[in-house]
Amino acid sequence: MPDLSQETPYADGKILMQVTDDVGVITFNNPDKRNAMSLEMWEGFGEALTVLRDDEAVRVVILRGAGGKAFVSGADISQFEKTRHNAAASEEYGKRSAAQRALLAAYPKPTIACIEGFCLGGGMQVAMLADIRLAAQGSQFGIPAAKLGIAYGYDGLKHLVSLVGPSWARLLMYTGMRIDAAEALRIGLVERVFPINELWGETMAIAQTISENAPLAIKAAKITIAEVLRDESARDMNAIKTIGTACMDSADFREGRQAFMEKRKPKFSGK
Ligand code: COA
Repeated sequence: MPDLSQETPYADGKILMQVTDDVGVITFNNPDKRNAMSLEMWEGFGEALTVLRDDEAVRVVILRGAGGKAFVSGADISQFEKTRHNAAASEEYGKRSAAQRALLAAYPKPTIACIEGFCLGGGMQVAMLADIRLAAQGSQFGIPAAKLGIAYGYDGLKHLVSLVGPSWARLLMYTGMRIDAAEALRIGLVERVFPINELWGETMAIAQTISENAPLAIKAAKITIAEVLRDESARDMNAIKTIGTACMDSADFREGRQAFMEKRKPKFSGK
């Protein structure tokens, strides 16, 4: 794992950000609370996401938890009495993290959740909003909303249903049960599972592969897949056409063809 002291702090250091080569890394850093997310952390998370979005050198962003015990153990329940005690307060609470969730949901660069330990509740929502989920053996996943009396909301459930289907979504939501990484892999909640000591290296290797590929081609895939998941009535076919045209007219497409013919590695600029 990278040295935490080299990272830029947000939310009083409870969110850390670092750029290594072309890869941005955001760390949820509240290990004493198993990286439970306070509203301040949501805000810091949004700031870090914005900086990495606007940094042209960054091609891919990894999200991870500090401390080895959790990715994120959900929302910080200790804030609930004050900020989320009824429907009106809960709506206000939701609004304070809505912009950051929307930012991650529509993030223009690929995102990877690197999950070690507990990934619960709001932590699952963060992981599900990422493009790809990689997990360590022994990780635990669950949405204990029914154990707390919380309605999980449309966005969170939309992603859960699209990943695992309605039946598994119901089983997870009705029971609030936790499942392990092997089961999460089997039902499609995570894409790959690695031994703990290999997780970070494997995650970086995937991030680096992505960062060496053509950014516009990746953007085309990201936009098109997002549109596939929308209702047909809301689907923006023009967005798909626009990015397709930009991609096929790009210098990078020329570079990709030439590099293949010259039997060398392509060097992509994102243009
Ligand atoms: N909010 C606030 N505090 C949390 C938290 C959360 N979501 N998750 C863990 N913590 C705190 C605990 O209260 C505890 O604090 P303490 O040391 O002051 O007592 C500390 O983190 C360590 O948690 P602990 O339960 O002792 O560790 P564990 O390794 O045995 O279990 C969890 C870890 C994550 C399984 C367990 O803490 C848990 O179930 N947390 C709640 C998860 C949840 O319901 N999330 C959904 C919220 S919407």
